[in-house]
Amino acid sequence: MKKVLVLFSGFLTLFFLVQCSSGKKAGKASAPRITYENSLTPIIMDNCVPCHVPSKGGNKKPYDNYQNVKTDIDEIIRRIELEPGQRGFMPFKKQAKLSDSLINVFKQWKDTGLKEK
Ligand code: HEC
Repeated sequence: MKKVLVLFSGFLTLFFLVQCSSGKKAGKASAPRITYENSLTPIIMDNCVPCHVPSKGGNKKPYDNYQNVKTDIDEIIRRIELEPGQRGFMPFKKQAKLSDSLINVFKQWKDTGLKEK
């Protein structure tokens, strides 16, 4: 009787392990939600300050503002993909481009429908 119980609980454990790992995979496969608030705000607050954030003293077009970023997304992508020193390059006067992965966040945001939150 004891042996049966041990065997049975072994199966149960195995069953749960399998369930858990397949659950994890399913979660990973679903596309990450890229929103202005979650994904873009941190990049802008790191790289486009102070110039584009009035509360930080910026006097350029405000990008702490969803509507402006949404309207300007094509121009933003165009400029952050330029090389430093090229006319129109952003972030203005910096020596280095944003990393590819940061640039991709802007592109993916555009491709996934420019969601605010
Ligand atoms: C050091 C200040 C500074 C920083 C940092 C900066 N910018 Fe700018 N930005 C400017 C200035 C100055 C202009 C206006 C001159 C021009 O158009 O090139 C401008 C203009 C722009 C424009 C054109 C706006 C319009 O009215 O059409 C875009 C788009 C832009 N910046 C994007 C960005 C993005 C995105 C970042 C961050 C990754 C950034 N900038 C960081 C100074 C800055």
